Amino acid sequence: MKGLILSGGKGTRLRPITHTGAKQLIPVANRPILFYAIDALTQAGIHEIGIIVGDTADEVRAAVGDGSKFGATITFIPQEAPLGLAHAVGIARDFLAGDSFVMYLGDNLIAQGIGTLVDEFQRSAADTMILLARVPEPQRFGVAELEDGRVISLVEKPSVPRSDLALVGVYLFSPLIFEAIDAIEPSPRGELEITDAIQRMIDTGKRVLPHIIEGWWKDTGRLDDILEANRMILDTLEARCDGTVGEDVRLHGKVVVEEGATLRNCVVRGPAIIGSRTIVDNAYIGPFTSIYFDCLVRNAEIENSIVLEGTRIHDIAGKIDGSLIGKECEVCKSPARPTAVRLMLGDHSRVEL
Ligand code: TTP
Repeated sequence: MKGLILSGGKGTRLRPITHTGAKQLIPVANRPILFYAIDALTQAGIHEIGIIVGDTADEVRAAVGDGSKFGATITFIPQEAPLGLAHAVGIARDFLAGDSFVMYLGDNLIAQGIGTLVDEFQRSAADTMILLARVPEPQRFGVAELEDGRVISLVEKPSVPRSDLALVGVYLFSPLIFEAIDAIEPSPRGELEITDAIQRMIDTGKRVLPHIIEGWWKDTGRLDDILEANRMILDTLEARCDGTVGEDVRLHGKVVVEEGATLRNCVVRGPAIIGSRTIVDNAYIGPFTSIYFDCLVRNAEIENSIVLEGTRIHDIAGKIDGSLIGKECEVCKSPARPTAVRLMLGDHSRVEL
């Protein structure tokens, strides 16, 4: 079996971060989301992996490399435009070369991994297996209807859902999926939809089986979901201190201090992670916070947030909460009069004061 990770797309819901970077490289607990997807595949015994890339191809290539650090061989497959999940699968036909494969959305996180799912697919001789989870608001998702242990229909964001079973971003396909992709037309939003291709398989009598997962999963397409994924993953880390921690520092609970980080006169309440070469000085880092590498947090308080590399947060009066702050930003108090909020924000930014 091979793996196919989708790491192109537009990422409109995560602007402005996605104006300048791939959403799949946003770090959750200081590790890019995409790396968890690669790990999930290799842990399931799949080492030949294709990654679909779009406008952010260079950045994704640079971060992933040839795959050797994951014990995988990676092939990058450029998609000329985000024309839909089924389009992305369609352009990987040569790479997949007649093998069955796992398609994994590069912005999804699945706590329990996919090993049992892959085993079940291989034993079942199914043509397609889809991963499903029970959700409280099925109308926000692709929803599956089951009968006699098979999937009989898939509807994208139905106004009246026929079940509470939502599609999670992992699918297993035999090469028969390509016939279905060839037969479908773009949807009203102009994309080749994977749900339409799977529905086509059902309608032409192929075996499409469900696999319902019980553990947590997250589609990290929106800010709140990324922060929640960050909370979930931070909670699984073991405390570790590889940096320099002054005597006036109090670390509570699960705190990871990475190599080269320096902490002085501060309180860190875990679960939290402080990245390499980051300085935390006279500050409070609250639960569920990930500060990436080469940052500065001085005379400031922050919790339940993610801060990307090279950002400086200093001399702030209030506490920063529930925030995603991009690379090399500066958040500070201005010494200039009149006292005012001064902003230089990228397009599509959101500020809550
Ligand atoms: P989505 O989150 O559905 O789409 P998007 O990334 O364009 O985001 P938004 O809706 O906020 O604009 O995509 C799921 C995953 O699949 C994500 O990792 C991006 C990837 N993808 C592709 O690689 N090619 C595509 O054509 C599409 C639509 C998505």
